[in-house]
Amino acid sequence: MTLFVIGKPINHSLSPVIHNFWIKKYQIGLEYRKMEVDKESLPSLIEKVRKKEITGLNVTLPYKKDIIKYVDEISDTAKDIGAINTIFLKKNKVYGENTDGIGFTNALEKQAKFNFNDKSIYVLGAGGASYGIISELIRKKVQTIYVANRTKQKTIQLIDYFKRKDKSLNFKFADWENLSPNSDVDLIINTTSFGMMENEFLEINIKNLKDTLILVDIIYNPKETELLKFFRKKGFFCMNGLSMLIEQAAVSFEHWFNISIGNKEIEEVKKICEKSY
Ligand code: ATR
Repeated sequence: MTLFVIGKPINHSLSPVIHNFWIKKYQIGLEYRKMEVDKESLPSLIEKVRKKEITGLNVTLPYKKDIIKYVDEISDTAKDIGAINTIFLKKNKVYGENTDGIGFTNALEKQAKFNFNDKSIYVLGAGGASYGIISELIRKKVQTIYVANRTKQKTIQLIDYFKRKDKSLNFKFADWENLSPNSDVDLIINTTSFGMMENEFLEINIKNLKDTLILVDIIYNPKETELLKFFRKKGFFCMNGLSMLIEQAAVSFEHWFNISIGNKEIEEVKKICEKSY
């Protein structure tokens, strides 16, 4: 029996480093591997989970949405997001979960002691990662969610999508061409891939920002995007995406093995990851 992270491409994935460390630590006697797969192999992989030939799967880009149609059931969180990243057998059914959003909020609550309740959040991006994070922000009862995205239509779609579930949600449209958060904003999150390439710098006007503002860029490679560097130099608390990656892995691990990963094991694996890229 094995576990896999599947996607295309998959070479860059840090998930094997994280899970194999905990698997060894808890003497589980399995191996977590990465597997580059084509769309056509998704159904057969799900069948292997059903037959217990595979213990569990993580799913990454570009299959987080496509794979939903092959599993038997998905969680409410996964329904909200419209994507899954974790698969396992539950009561003989192949079950899909999404741990990305909770990974994000766990990272903020633990590393930055951030309390989401009643806060104003400024989200950059309206892609898959943004849906995952926003669905969890809503669960945490934040006050206001501003959304800015390069393609305006996708911002409108995202706001409509969540508003259809709950009309009372307080969403505000923010202009990508003029990123200028107000003084009520407590947290800025970059969920876009802009910043992964050298010299990609997202300009944000900081003149209204409060001193306690936190900036999170969910990119972890490079370790510090130009955006993070700029905010760090200006004295703001900053965080890259590595903690989120490890926290979402910890939630997946708990689903597979019913073992809750403690803060010490999170920190241990973080150090290993930091050295590995
Ligand atoms: P993910 O699941 O990682 O969020 P995605 O669904 O493809 O991936 O979304 C990518 C996000 O990054 C989108 O918000 C995208 O903006 P568009 O909707 O305008 O495409 C954003 N993005 C990617 N490259 C970008 C760039 N060069 N400049 C600005 N935004 C970019």
